[in-house]
Amino acid sequence: MSQQTGISVLGSTGSIGRQTLDVIAHHPDRFRVVALAAGRNAALLKEQVQRFQPDLVATAEESAGNQIAHPRIEAGAAGLIAAATHPAAEIVVVATSGHAAIMPTYRAIATGKTIALANKETIVCAGELIVPFAAARGVQIRPVDSEHSAIWQSLGRSPVSEVARLILTASGGPFRQTPRAQLAEVTVAQALAHPTWAMGGKVTVDSATLMNKGLELIEAHWLFGVPYPQIEIVVHPESIVHSLVEFADASQIAQLSLPDMRLPIQYALTYPEHAPSPCRRLSLVEIGALHFEPPDLERFPALRLAREAGEAGRTYPTVLSAADDVAVAAFLAGRIPFLAIAEITADVLARHQPQGPLTFEAIAAADAWARREAEELVARAECSS
Ligand SMILES: NC(=O)c1ccc[n+]([C@@H]2O[C@H](COP(=O)([O-])OP(=O)(O)OC[C@H]3O[C@@H](n4cnc5c(N)ncnc54)[C@H](OP(=O)(O)O)[C@@H]3O)[C@@H](O)[C@H]2O)c1
Repeated sequence: MSQQTGISVLGSTGSIGRQTLDVIAHHPDRFRVVALAAGRNAALLKEQVQRFQPDLVATAEESAGNQIAHPRIEAGAAGLIAAATHPAAEIVVVATSGHAAIMPTYRAIATGKTIALANKETIVCAGELIVPFAAARGVQIRPVDSEHSAIWQSLGRSPVSEVARLILTASGGPFRQTPRAQLAEVTVAQALAHPTWAMGGKVTVDSATLMNKGLELIEAHWLFGVPYPQIEIVVHPESIVHSLVEFADASQIAQLSLPDMRLPIQYALTYPEHAPSPCRRLSLVEIGALHFEPPDLERFPALRLAREAGEAGRTYPTVLSAADDVAVAAFLAGRIPFLAIAEITADVLARHQPQGPLTFEAIAAADAWARREAEELVARAECSS
């Protein structure tokens, strides 16, 4: 019998997906790719299929699948679920962007797969449903996001009852020191020039507005079961301390490394082992000094919006995430200015009225509603500019 762990990678052509395959390529004896799922980038997926020889390939659109020679290709939402539930997959790396990851993750948990979770929307929108579902089935959700991985590693075996605070660090993004008046004028290229991390476009813009940290706040609440008032955000421009846990005795434990997503990705695959990795080693002597400062909620209102949406619960986090998604896409397309991203998200949240208890159907309905509302506000902002 094979000693290799079967891995299914959802979102293999994206930033996290590519780095996951790089980690796997460094450990050929240990891991085998059993399924690859991607969106539209057929050219890269084709290369990945040739190199990793998965049993199953899934694409968001049939046209992308038609460009790949493979005996088993599935398309659309069903394809993503087939990849997430592939019988030979022991670990499912969820690295698709957006809301498409929610149901495949749920189905992967239902079939007992260990989840290595990069996708934020799954926990932001459906943490209330997904986290207890996984716990009831004894399924582990291993965080891939560097901040949550740092908290997970810092927690070790300590029970959450011993936690006084979680301290999530934020790089502060490219506009950490930009005055508010200038934020109105910043360009897409400036927003995409992240000072410490190389990531996909959506998450990079979210880092510039600090919405990314707001989404991570909601994720941390659900992943670790810590109430919102006990989760603090601290800006740390060097991105060396990836997050900290403060315990009841006032001791703080942190995880440090040079910023490289392959490290948390690998730990989610090799847990509980810290295996050799291709990542460069940190020298604190070379770095010299680390800095910390409070976030500025006046210049970065997205962080406040996310905290309020998280505390309000129900479908508010879905609305936050969906409205932000539409607004960020509009900013990237040059349709709205940078500051309008948080303004539009705030307006959609203010109009939202949750209906009934939280279900996957309610999440889908709130998502569709928020996208329509946000799109209308984008169109209005375009007309008035
Ligand atoms: N990048 C980071 O460092 C980082 C860190 C922490 C968390 N995250 C989170 O991880 C997730 C992925 O981020 P990323 O930066 O890797 O994004 P990305 O570079 O935009 O990649 C997204 C991936 O998802 C695929 N995809 C999108 N919609 C799909 C669908 N409906 N069906 C199948 N595949 C689909 C894309 O396929 P195509 O490209 O082929 O269309 C691509 O492979 C996000 O939720 C992000 O917030 C990212």
